[in-house]
Amino acid sequence: MQIVSSIAAMQRLAKKWQRAGTRIGFVPTMGYLHAGHLSLVRAARKRVGTNGKVVVSIYVNPTQFAPTEDLAKYPRDLKRDLKLLRELGVDVVFTPSDAEMYPGKFENRFSTYIVEEKLSQMMEGASRPTHFRGVTTVVAKLFNIVLPDVAVFGQKDFQQAAIIKRMVADLNFPVKIIVAPTLRERDGLAMSSRNKYLDPEQRAQAVILYHALQAAKAAVKKKSVAGGRLQADLKEFITAAPLARLDYVEFFDPETLEPVKQVKRGTQMALAVFFGKTRLIDNAGL
Ligand code: PAJ
Repeated sequence: MQIVSSIAAMQRLAKKWQRAGTRIGFVPTMGYLHAGHLSLVRAARKRVGTNGKVVVSIYVNPTQFAPTEDLAKYPRDLKRDLKLLRELGVDVVFTPSDAEMYPGKFENRFSTYIVEEKLSQMMEGASRPTHFRGVTTVVAKLFNIVLPDVAVFGQKDFQQAAIIKRMVADLNFPVKIIVAPTLRERDGLAMSSRNKYLDPEQRAQAVILYHALQAAKAAVKKKSVAGGRLQADLKEFITAAPLARLDYVEFFDPETLEPVKQVKRGTQMALAVFFGKTRLIDNAGL
């Protein structure tokens, strides 16, 4: 497994593979890897086969964090990450520095961003207004560096995956986007690098996000329900966890992300819940 931290070296490798007709599968991450990330790596390998190359990037992207957010304390463990990726047979890990990715940002010499203007407005975009601009910009940069044929994203970040798909379609990036299912802990909590922030009491109550998704599924199994009504019911349901503070719960069309008035089977639900300063998200098709 090769570890590459220079953009020029990564692009040289990718171009060499391209010329040889070798397929490139790519999984962008911010590291502190868990089984959810590793499932994306396996999906990438499955797509490109043993003759293809799998590239994983580990980069905690500063432009997708607001100044008030957890950039400085975002968990990192590069040594462990590299060991896990080596065991999975990854070909290249791309680990650029901030100076490499955003040269001159702090002298105001970085000034080009990619902004998706529609799907980024609601939910995560409403709660974190500059977040998706940072995500689309860094993912576009990474696509230009890694030159992937296929890139794998997790359904865990449903809105992020939808926005990336839209960006790729709108700007004609020659890459196929795969969205892989959410991996969960035994009790149903979606795996996330941020779960590490939870104390034992918060961790025990964090399963409320999953239970809220299950409760909504059950509610619409046989009949449709008014969105406002279900929202109110779930708000109350979530207060059963005394450490939980609901940020949002939304029901929307899985393709357009447009909110729906009437919730039924197949409607997508997403929610964000604070436990102390830690913000957890989850979603599911009902
Ligand atoms: P990160 O949070 O590290 O997630 C990397 C990828 O892993 C994302 O596609 C995310 O949806 C997926 N993922 C996270 N938890 C998962 C789970 N429990 N099951 C399956 N997949 C899961 O998302 C980012 O990084 C960044 O925004 C990034 C795209 C790398 C851009 O900086």
